[in-house]
Amino acid sequence: MNLPVTTEIDHDLCTGCGLCVDICPSNTISLVDGRATVTGDYSIQCDHCAAICPVGAITVHGVDEDALKLTTVKNNGTWLKHGDFDTALLVQLMRSRRSCRMFSSKPVEKDMLEDLVKIGATAPSGTNSQLWTFTILPYRSAVEKLGAMTSQFFHRLNSDDALGQYYRRYHETGKENLREGKEPGRDQLFYGAPAAIIIGMKPGASCPCEDALMASQNILLAAHAMGLGTCMIGFVVEAIKHDSGIKRALGIPKKERVYAVIAIGYSSEKYTRMTERKPVAPRYYEG
Ligand SMILES: Cc1cc2nc3c(=O)[nH]c(=O)nc-3n(C[C@H](O)[C@H](O)[C@H](O)COP(=O)(O)O)c2cc1C
Ligand code: SF4
Repeated sequence: MNLPVTTEIDHDLCTGCGLCVDICPSNTISLVDGRATVTGDYSIQCDHCAAICPVGAITVHGVDEDALKLTTVKNNGTWLKHGDFDTALLVQLMRSRRSCRMFSSKPVEKDMLEDLVKIGATAPSGTNSQLWTFTILPYRSAVEKLGAMTSQFFHRLNSDDALGQYYRRYHETGKENLREGKEPGRDQLFYGAPAAIIIGMKPGASCPCEDALMASQNILLAAHAMGLGTCMIGFVVEAIKHDSGIKRALGIPKKERVYAVIAIGYSSEKYTRMTERKPVAPRYYEG
């Protein structure tokens, strides 16, 4: 996806160092008579040129300086250079995040949910499309309604013999969940989560699934750091994908596709150790 060129260069400030020319992934800028000049006819509006210019000569219109300003997290807007973060701490955060299946009923502040969406939007996206959409369910009542619509979808599937092979896998687990869900106080879909974020993509992205899931992982990690538990709820994604009525009820336009549903809330789980993973054996190709 190539966006129109919105790069503006102040020739009075430009010293002709060429840094912006070297960093630009879409050859939008070149040096003409010793000054950076827009010579290309397309741009992915990545804003790298403005970020690298030592004299602040570049403005990329269309990206918003305030778009990523957070209200519940102290924001330090300076760029961390490579190696300037504690890797051990980062990995500890990654390993400490767990899918939460026991949420407390404490509501999540709307500002925190909005900050999580902004943090999601810091993710990379194919050709910088940023075509993701975020639907926030800020109250338990909304989460319950989505849970009920999802359950109804799986109920309908369970009574439908025309189930395709594709659904068979979901069928048994779905039945199990629905059975357990009937017991009072059990919410086998959202685990009592008081909030949720649905991540979708508008049409036109080159890598929609990847974009949505990258934003999701940002949200999962940041939520843990902010004191919140999360769980990706694939069952609900399936229901939304195949039941246009759910999309309609949620106010998600028909042409948008949903890739992730994240249950969010304060966790009642307390672990005493990290979990482990299966061993990973990388493969090499050495040319
Ligand atoms: C795409 C995706 C869909 C998932 N769907 C569900 C779900 O519907 N219900 C659930 O309890 N967990 C769901 N999970 C959570 C996984 O079960 C969990 O990530 C996995 O067991 C590893 O555990 P961890 O997240 O605690 O590291 C999902 C995870 C992913 C990545
Ligand atoms: S990085 Fe800034 S100073 Fe250097 S060439 Fe580009 S606009 Fe001019």
